[in-house]
Amino acid sequence: MYYSDDVVEEVRSRNDIVDVISGYVKLQRKGSSYFGLCPFHNEKSPSFSVSPSKQMYYCFGCGAGGNVFTFLMEYENYTFPEALKTLADRAGVALPETDDSAEARRQRDRKSEVLKVNKLAARFYYYQLRAPQGAKAMEYLKGRQLSDETMQKFGLGYASQYSDVLYKYLKQQKVSEELMRESGLFNYSERQGMYDKFWNRVIFPIMDANGRVIGFGGRVMGDGKPKYLNSPETIVFDKSRNLYGLHVARSARKKYMLVCEGYMDVISMHQAGFTNAVASLGTALTSQHALLLKRYTDEVILTYDSDEAGVRAALRAIPLLREAGVATKVLHMDPYKDPDEFIKARGQEAFQERIDQAENSFLFEISILQKSYDMKDPTSKTRFHQAAAAKIAEFEQELERENYIEAVADRFQISFEGLRRMVMNQLMQGVSVPKAVTAARREQRPEKEDGLRRSERLLLTWLVEYPKLFPLVEAFLRPEDFSDEMYCQVASMLYEQLRSGELNPGKIAGAFSEQEEQRKVAQIFNTELAVTGKAEQAKAVRETIGKLVNRVMERKAKEMTAAELTTQERLAAQMEMVEAKKRLEKLKTVHISL
Ligand code: UTP
Ligand code: MN
Repeated sequence: MYYSDDVVEEVRSRNDIVDVISGYVKLQRKGSSYFGLCPFHNEKSPSFSVSPSKQMYYCFGCGAGGNVFTFLMEYENYTFPEALKTLADRAGVALPETDDSAEARRQRDRKSEVLKVNKLAARFYYYQLRAPQGAKAMEYLKGRQLSDETMQKFGLGYASQYSDVLYKYLKQQKVSEELMRESGLFNYSERQGMYDKFWNRVIFPIMDANGRVIGFGGRVMGDGKPKYLNSPETIVFDKSRNLYGLHVARSARKKYMLVCEGYMDVISMHQAGFTNAVASLGTALTSQHALLLKRYTDEVILTYDSDEAGVRAALRAIPLLREAGVATKVLHMDPYKDPDEFIKARGQEAFQERIDQAENSFLFEISILQKSYDMKDPTSKTRFHQAAAAKIAEFEQELERENYIEAVADRFQISFEGLRRMVMNQLMQGVSVPKAVTAARREQRPEKEDGLRRSERLLLTWLVEYPKLFPLVEAFLRPEDFSDEMYCQVASMLYEQLRSGELNPGKIAGAFSEQEEQRKVAQIFNTELAVTGKAEQAKAVRETIGKLVNRVMERKAKEMTAAELTTQERLAAQMEMVEAKKRLEKLKTVHISL
């Protein structure tokens, strides 16, 4: 599916971003921008901004940002074509028919064929479980205290002990071998040819959010290995974008969702009335899962296994959920292994109590952190306090930091004032202005590089806000002088626009295809300067340009001594260095006004 830049630009320009976002978020004008509560993370005071002049949005709290397409993609979990289609409809723009290319149609048809095969297979397994040959499997499931109703609700089934039953059945239903191969339900060997992947197992059909069967899990009845076999990823089965149980949980009408590790845990919880439980599909939780959850809820309670693997999985999931703007708590299962075991042993009410007592995920992270320090040793204990302070310092908002200082001080018995000073120190040491993005999203680069990038972003933001700075900036910095590949591209496009007098930052965001990149563009154009007042700003502009030119000089000086350069290249580097030096001199005397 491909649309030309012209079409995309037409749709973008006919959908004013303030109008579109106003349909989702209550916005209020503040200066040249609009502000509201960010829909991508939980907040009490508005840090989500929408700029009519830039045609972009950006959240100073969580770093979400982009243009009008990015917004729909993030908010509605749309793909780009879906966002484009929606906005085209909204503005009455007719899209060219590329959408229904032969290839796209073929792809859709294949998907629905595979879904049909899955449905046939699910029905087949379902009846096998309830037929005489399924007696042993039925006994196994009853032994695990599943009711008939639960088994039916989750469509549980049985794959018999022969490895050609499903094959024969589908053959009889006139399903082609090619389609069978594509369904992921079969294995192939030289000797046997095609044979059933699942045999002698109880079957858990896996449904997407709309209740369509997209894959299967099969469990041995007893202690064999592997415990579970799962369908491989197919054209309809993407493990990182689906969650087991979601088709039921999505309409559970609870304000949070329970996320666990296993099929059996989901089923047990549902049977006990916790119909808002889901699990990932034998893989770790991904950022796509987090976004998927965010579509249905603002709060997740992790009910992972209590063993070390479960703790590790929780520690990995928490930042992803935080990123997605989902508030997270951790439920303590001990002394039981998993929700299934807990509910069997202690029942529904006890489980509800544990839900009510679930721990804030940040405090959970700190308590795990604490385990690696010896709290009886003063030095080690101080290090723990510093580490905790550093983590608290990652929160964007002052009030949130304050709240966590209070909570951590209270919970870990640290002096409130002492901890607060440590957090302050952390903030002063890092970049002295609020970080534009959360730590997890920030790329892992050395401090110095990060400061430099910040300066570059600052300069690009200024150019957008004060286009009349352009001749000055252009005289001192070329797009290729920016240190990051992406910043170079953005600078180059922005220069182009400023030169032709058609400033349009939203279009620049649209030039990047990945959501993560568009977010970065939004960040670039929304860097906050911590100073106010024209004179001070002019001074900051001068210093920032100076810093960047200086960096160019340093780079060239390094290049000059690089062994692999030819004499010619070395000379060129030298000339550029000298030239940069001159620019630096000139910068001292040039007049800057905003
Ligand atoms: P568990 O081993 O905790 O299984 O694996 P469980 O769901 O609690 O099942 P019971 O209660 O022992 O029957 C958690 C999840 O990890 C995946 C499955 O999705 C399982 O539900 N898994 C586990 C596999 O994919 N393969 C395996 O061999 C084991
Ligand atoms: Mn388990």
